[in-house]
Amino acid sequence: MTDTTARVSVDLERTIAPISPLLFGGFAEHMGRCIYEGIYDPASHLADAHGLRTDLLAALRELNFRVMRYPGGNFLSGYNWRDGVGPKAQRPRVRELAWHSIETNQFGTDEFMHFCEQINTLPMMAVNLGTAGLREAVDLLEYCNAPLGTVNADLRAANGHAAPYDVRYWCLGNEMDGAWQIGHLEAYEYARKAKETGRAMKMTDKTINLIACGSSATNMLTYPEWDRIVLEECYDDIEYLSLHYYANNYAQNTPDYLALPGQFETHLDTLASTVRYVKAKLRAKRDVYLSWDEWNVWYKDRTMDGQWSAAPHLIEEIYNLEDALVVAQWLSVFLRHTDVLKIACIAQIVNVIAPILTRRDALLKQSIFYPLMLFSRLAQGDALDLHVRAPQTSTTQYGDVPVLDASGSHDAASGRIALFLVNRSLDTALPVEIRAQSDGIERILAMHQVAGNDPKAANSFARPDVIGVTTLPGQPFDGRSTTITVPPLSFTAVEIG
Ligand code: AHR
Repeated sequence: MTDTTARVSVDLERTIAPISPLLFGGFAEHMGRCIYEGIYDPASHLADAHGLRTDLLAALRELNFRVMRYPGGNFLSGYNWRDGVGPKAQRPRVRELAWHSIETNQFGTDEFMHFCEQINTLPMMAVNLGTAGLREAVDLLEYCNAPLGTVNADLRAANGHAAPYDVRYWCLGNEMDGAWQIGHLEAYEYARKAKETGRAMKMTDKTINLIACGSSATNMLTYPEWDRIVLEECYDDIEYLSLHYYANNYAQNTPDYLALPGQFETHLDTLASTVRYVKAKLRAKRDVYLSWDEWNVWYKDRTMDGQWSAAPHLIEEIYNLEDALVVAQWLSVFLRHTDVLKIACIAQIVNVIAPILTRRDALLKQSIFYPLMLFSRLAQGDALDLHVRAPQTSTTQYGDVPVLDASGSHDAASGRIALFLVNRSLDTALPVEIRAQSDGIERILAMHQVAGNDPKAANSFARPDVIGVTTLPGQPFDGRSTTITVPPLSFTAVEIG
């Protein structure tokens, strides 16, 4: 290794934890054109008999989401789930306060469950703790999970779904620390409400997993004190604490932006420490894990007022190459923290800050689609604790940082290893020696690369292939090592057999 090359050492005995498949999750909110014109668009010739966009279903199957959070988001805190079930002609049109939109309720709980089945993903429902509370939460849980014979389960059957949906994951409200939230609460008020709602929900179905709201972002003045208070009050009644974060490059400083994912490690470390502190303080025996159930890049389109229209164009962010490289590193952060982070949902899945955009007659895969797809497909088995040595690159905000970001996985069942590499340099290709520290690592089978010269390059309906994946041939190891060269501004997923 020289000072211009990097080395990634792979020891199959150095593992972090089994990778939680729920790290590859999505989030669908009744906001803008996510549900209407995104998932559900009966007016499109591409819709199936249920009004679902078939081209979208195909693209989502490629992303292979394992869990899907619904129905919000800020929308959740004003939502009456009963408006969204029953005969469609009788469902009310209502004023939706979070996004100043008109909600037609043509898509609701039953349609969402059908959608999840179509893309083979687990539903993760959220209960309104803004305008609603314990009673509505318990009723919705009964609607989803109870056997026939009581009023809400029978209502489900009357709506055509006799079998329970058996929803395993339930969020207790959304971003209740935010002043923007309908029914915003102080930490202790929220903690009490979440605890009592959660307890009643577990009286209804003791097998469910509950996710309490942690802080909405690290720049909240109440972070991380909010998290401590919620944990201290709810620890015995929840399985997960949520965190949210949206990344930006307002500064238009690409080197800094590409180093930003280092902050995500700190975010997880802080919350993992808070969980450990509370566990010790309460003398608790069981663990509570983290659920990063909103994450993405979001800063270019901040249109959030729907002006009282149905399916308005809200926050339809266009993603470029540098965004894809931040998303790829974010996913690597998830792998490196899979011992404490068990759920992650990219916000959102279509049209609204999403990897996919739709028009009535067409669908576009944005740059961030590709790292999501590659991680979800290749990161299996255990996360590897790689040993990485790399040259440094300088940034304004974070000082010198390694030019290479790396994570890895090993699936003992198939023998497959995957490495996920981002070269943060804007202009310099990086030779990376991959060194095997275990037996049986013999060959790179293939490499899948997202790269380009221009960090701002993006796909559009007119030019859909500016950013995509190039698959490169494999190469053998020479003894214990092999060297590849990763171009500047690139993400490479390396499959090793
Ligand atoms: O995903 C968009 C919005 O961002 C969500 O509704 C909210 O939870 C967050 O602030």
